[in-house]
Amino acid sequence: MSHPPIYGVGDASYRAAGGIDGLRRLVDDFYRLMDEQPEAADLRRLHGESLQLARDKLSCFLSGWLGGPRLFSEKYGAIAIPAFHAQWPIDERLSEIWLNCMAQAIALQPYPADFADYLLSQLRVPAHRIVQACGNRHGIARPGY
Ligand code: HEM
Repeated sequence: MSHPPIYGVGDASYRAAGGIDGLRRLVDDFYRLMDEQPEAADLRRLHGESLQLARDKLSCFLSGWLGGPRLFSEKYGAIAIPAFHAQWPIDERLSEIWLNCMAQAIALQPYPADFADYLLSQLRVPAHRIVQACGNRHGIARPGY
């Protein structure tokens, strides 16, 4: 009897996303949508003019984050996602714009429906931590990020 995949285990999520090639397609769509959509203009403005490096960095990060090769730390070193983003004033509204671009990009991929839902719900976790870290950025630095 075959069991449904448990996406949090091992590299199941990485494989469901189509490995690094699948993640690069997801991230290409994500940044293309961010670039094209007027509703995402405030988010786009936070980024550099070229999105080339951002594409590679997010693809590499997601690889390790989903249980695949830790390409981000190999290439770019360690990163703490909430603390890194605290240099920008990211609030709930910007976070929703980011998640909305990601939801649309995920919908363009040939992912099973349960994996598409799982991936978006997992991405809400760091997105929420980012908003919290940005809200605290003028306060006392909190350990644990
Ligand atoms: C909550 C909404 C978010 C906003 C507004 C946001 C915004 C940004 C911005 C402005 C950059 C810099 C891009 C550039 O230099 O051109 C960036 C980089 C990055 N973001 Fe986010 N981000 C968000 C959520 C996330 C999430 C949820 C993740 C991970 C799952 C993530 C992972 C990254 C990574 C890996 C980088 C590259 C880091 C580096 O330059 O070393 N971001 N983000």
